[in-house]
Amino acid sequence: MIPEEFIQELLNRVDVVDVVDKSVPLKKAGANFTACCPFHNEKSPSFTVSPTKQFYHCFGCGAHGTAISFLMEYNGLSFVEAVHELAKQVGLIVPQEKRDANKPAKKEVVGLQEAMQTAAVYYKAELKKSQRAIEYLKGRGLSGQIAAKFQVGYAPAGWQNLQSIFPDYDNDVLTTAGLVVQNEKGKRYDRFRDRIMFPIHNHKGEVIGFGGRVINPEDTPKYYNSPETPLFQKGHELYGLFVARRAIRDAGRALVVEGYMDVVALAQYGIDYAVAALGTATTPFHITKLMRQTDEVVFSFDGDQAGRTAAWRAAMNALPALSDGLKLRFMFLPTGHDPDSYVREFGKEHFEQAMQQAMPLSEYIKQHLTENNPLVSQEDKVTLLNDAEPILKQIKAPRLALMMRKKIAELAQVTEAEMQSLLKLPVATGRKPKQSYQRQSRTPLSLKKRFILMALMRPDLVVPEDVQFADGDGAEDAFLAGVLNSCLANPTYKPAGLLHVLNNQDVSLQAEIERELQQLEENLDLALEFQGARTQLSDTVQQIKEAHLLHAIKEKPLSALSEEEREMLKKLGVK
Ligand code: UTP
Ligand code: MN
Repeated sequence: MIPEEFIQELLNRVDVVDVVDKSVPLKKAGANFTACCPFHNEKSPSFTVSPTKQFYHCFGCGAHGTAISFLMEYNGLSFVEAVHELAKQVGLIVPQEKRDANKPAKKEVVGLQEAMQTAAVYYKAELKKSQRAIEYLKGRGLSGQIAAKFQVGYAPAGWQNLQSIFPDYDNDVLTTAGLVVQNEKGKRYDRFRDRIMFPIHNHKGEVIGFGGRVINPEDTPKYYNSPETPLFQKGHELYGLFVARRAIRDAGRALVVEGYMDVVALAQYGIDYAVAALGTATTPFHITKLMRQTDEVVFSFDGDQAGRTAAWRAAMNALPALSDGLKLRFMFLPTGHDPDSYVREFGKEHFEQAMQQAMPLSEYIKQHLTENNPLVSQEDKVTLLNDAEPILKQIKAPRLALMMRKKIAELAQVTEAEMQSLLKLPVATGRKPKQSYQRQSRTPLSLKKRFILMALMRPDLVVPEDVQFADGDGAEDAFLAGVLNSCLANPTYKPAGLLHVLNNQDVSLQAEIERELQQLEENLDLALEFQGARTQLSDTVQQIKEAHLLHAIKEKPLSALSEEEREMLKKLGVK
C-alpha cells in the first residue's frame, strides 16, 4: 500500500490538465478544457477537464476521474504504476511501502522540488549580500521591487557554496536537480557560480529551474541554464508565465520575447504580460500553454537575421497548435534592439503602439513566401505552391486553413479547386470552432447533493456542526458524511483529492457528483451560496426535529406535558 498522504501530495502537485493534455490535446472552454473523449467515439467534444477541481468527466460516456485514473484508463497502467509515473513527472519519490527489517533504512532523500526551492531562497538571500550583484542589476535599470517580484537571486563565486545549505552535498538529488555538477574525476562543484540567478517557475509557482547570467562580460557562456530534469523540460516551460499570469488575463494578450532580461525589463516598464521561451525555439507546447491563458499572442523578435530566423521557426512551430480563436502576431524590432533596450529607450506607450502594428500570422506567412519570389513566371508560381504546401497541410484550424488557401491560390493565380488537386490538401471542414456540448437533461439536485458540491469546492467553509445534516441512513447521507469529514480533515484539498478519499463509497453517486461538479461555474459566489444552503438545511433539520417532537407530544395526554412541551405546542400553533 502506498500511503494515502503521498497520494494526496501527488494529486496536489500534478495538474490533471497537463497529464491529460500530453495524450489528448485540450482546448480552453471557459474555466474548463475540452476535447473529444478518448474513451468513446465522438465527433463533438463532451470530455471536460477542470483545473480547479483537478479531474475530468465525459458527459457522453460518463468516464471520470483524477490524474491517476486517467493514466490507468488511458495508458493501461495499474494503480501503482500510475502513481509512480506521476511521481516521476513531478519529481517526487514514492515512499518505500514495505521496509525489509534486515536492510538499513535508505538514506533520506530530499525531493527535487525541495532542493530547487531551498536553492532559490539561498540565491535570493545572497543577492542582498552582494553589492556587486545589486549594482549590476541597478545598472540595468531594475528596481528592488521588480527583482523581488521575479525572485531574482545571486549565486556567489566559489566552488561549493551550496554545501552551506545542503550538508548532504553528495546527494544524487543535487546532481539530478542540476544544482551540482560532478566531473569525470568525481569532484563535485556548484553549477552556478558568480551569476545573477533567474528562477523558473512552473504553473503552480514552484521553482523548477534556473537561468544564470554572468556579471563579468568576459565569462562564458553568457547564460547558463538548468539542465532538463524530471521537473523541468525546456520545451514545455515559459520563463515568467507564472508571474505574468494575471497580467496576461487582464491585458487579454501575452507577449513572447527571447530573453530573461527582456521579460524583467518589460515588467519594470509596466509591460507585465511578457514571457520568454528558454533559449529554445517556441514549441507547440508553448503555444498550447499560452492559448490556455489568452486568445492573443504577440511574438517580439530582434530585427536582425537571427531574430528573423527565430520568428519564422516560431510561426512554423505554432501551426499545428493553432485554433481559430487565436490571434497570433509578429513584431519586429529595429536592428540592434531587443525588447529590453527598446522599452528602455522609447517607453511603454511607444512599445505598445508598435505592438499594435505587429503583423498577423497569415500576413507574415504570405510576406515570407513572397519575399524572394517575384511571382512572374510559371516556375515562380510552382515554387510558391511547393513552399506553401507543408504550411497549409499543418494548419488544423478550419477557418484559418480556408483563408490561407484562398490567399495562396490568389497569389499563385490558380483557382482553389486547382490548388486543391495539385496539393492534395485535406478537405477543410466548415465546422464552427466552438460547440457547446450536448448536456444531459437535468433534474434539480437535492439540497444535500448541493451541499456536497459546495463542500467539495470550498472545504475550508465546512464547520463541524455541518455533520448533523448527514443524519439519515441512506447512501446520500453516508456520502455527505464522508465528504464533510474529509473536508474537515483536509480543508485545503482540491475536489479530486477529497473525492479520492471517498473512493470506496457509492460509485454511482460519486459519478453523479463529479458530473455536477464539472458543470458548476467557477464564478459563483460560493461563500454566499454556502450560507444559504446551510440555512436551508438547518431549517429542514429543525423541521424534522420538531415533527418528531410533535409526534411524541401528541401521544401524551395534555396533563402529562411539561411546561416546556406546552410552550412548544403553542409555538407550533397546535392547540
Ligand atoms: P540574448 O543573447 O538575447 O540575451 O539571449 P538577453 O536576454 O538579451 O540578455 P542580456 O540582455 O544580454 O542580459 C536570449 C536568451 O537566449 C538564451 C537565454 O534564455 C537568453 O535569455 N541564452 C543566451 C542562453 O541560454 N545562453 C546564452 O549563452 C545566451
Ligand atoms: Mn538583452
